Amino acid sequence: MNPLLNRLQPYPFEKLRALMAGVRPNPDLPPISLGIGEPRHPTPEFIRRALVEHLDGLAHYPSTAGSAALRQACAAWIGRRHRVTVDPGTQVLPVNGSREALFALAQVVIDPGRPLATVVSPNPFYQIYEGAALLAGAHCHFAPVDAARNFAVDWSFVPDAVWQRTQLLYVCSPGNPTGAVMTLDEWERLFELSDRHGFVIASDECYGEIWLGDTPPLGGLEAASILGRHDFRRLVMFSSLSKRSNVPGMRSGFVAGDAEVLKAFLLYRTYHGGAMGPAVQEASIAAWNDESHVAGNRALYREKFDRVLPILQPVIKVARPDAGFYLWAETPIDDVEFARSLLETYNCTVLPGSLLARAQDGHNPGAGRVRLALVAGVDECVEAAGRIAALVRSL
Ligand SMILES: Cc1ncc(COP(=O)(O)O)c(C=O)c1O
Repeated sequence: MNPLLNRLQPYPFEKLRALMAGVRPNPDLPPISLGIGEPRHPTPEFIRRALVEHLDGLAHYPSTAGSAALRQACAAWIGRRHRVTVDPGTQVLPVNGSREALFALAQVVIDPGRPLATVVSPNPFYQIYEGAALLAGAHCHFAPVDAARNFAVDWSFVPDAVWQRTQLLYVCSPGNPTGAVMTLDEWERLFELSDRHGFVIASDECYGEIWLGDTPPLGGLEAASILGRHDFRRLVMFSSLSKRSNVPGMRSGFVAGDAEVLKAFLLYRTYHGGAMGPAVQEASIAAWNDESHVAGNRALYREKFDRVLPILQPVIKVARPDAGFYLWAETPIDDVEFARSLLETYNCTVLPGSLLARAQDGHNPGAGRVRLALVAGVDECVEAAGRIAALVRSL
């Protein structure tokens, strides 16, 4: 067996299950989960229809690069959403959800033969980044988020000697779990570091369509373009339909950016078997071409934040995020203890923040917080907020 597999950590939800094993949830209340970040709004009918109308495609092997029509639809969406022109022939590739692509890119980019191959990741973070680094033969260096600066990542935690050996940097904007959006200044600094040290930037933007204010979050390609980097050198952005269009089960997304990196990625994917099914490609074209369902989706998330925050804010420290569908709330007691009491007393599941982060210098930047995924219906989210507030008041 590959010994690197032994370096993988259990997934946060496995850890949560183990931690909650002895807990008996209050049987008098119906269960509510704000634990898993799985979108639960209904899949739009036109996407379901497009999928079944193209089942004939099952009789053919799809190409790994995807159909020209799909790559064109992705490029057109990038043009509308990010005001950036990309070449659909060389700068876009369909992927089966951003998760597999975030993992696979590390296998393409990392040269494990170079001394101390390093991947830099925010902390807390989406655990795939760490697993991807470890299985590529690299190790992770973490940069914690700074609560005092709206959870922006504190890149000064990465010493120059570490940047020098860094081959890949993951960024996540809007962030999971914090919802923080990266600024142009932050992008400029990271591009400068990438130019100096030659690492690739993987920009995870899978929450980029769930924005809560008036302006859509700045994406990596747009930041590059504003800064005159029209070739998107060493930058790959990851987009996904899962959250945007409520199709987490369809497994559809794309990557876009540096043509040279994508050429190598396409080669890798040809061997790995990363082609997207033809019916999924057609349903994806329909989804990327439509904006009205996305606006409706955003409105529903906004309503949840509007209803839930006035219940929580009088009792716990929690801010409206820039974007995404999570609240990153401070707990008055240890986060695992808080999650346990909430399940036991109020039959409500939340994710302890410490499970989403790694301790650095004895401090876990997720400790003392819980992630609340506002993915349930509005009434259920409101009910859950009431239960959380009741628990806090009882402590
Ligand atoms: C930060 C982040 N990136 C990527 C993903 C993967 O999403 P998908 O593979 O559905 O595109 C998730 C899923 O929850 C996520 O939270």
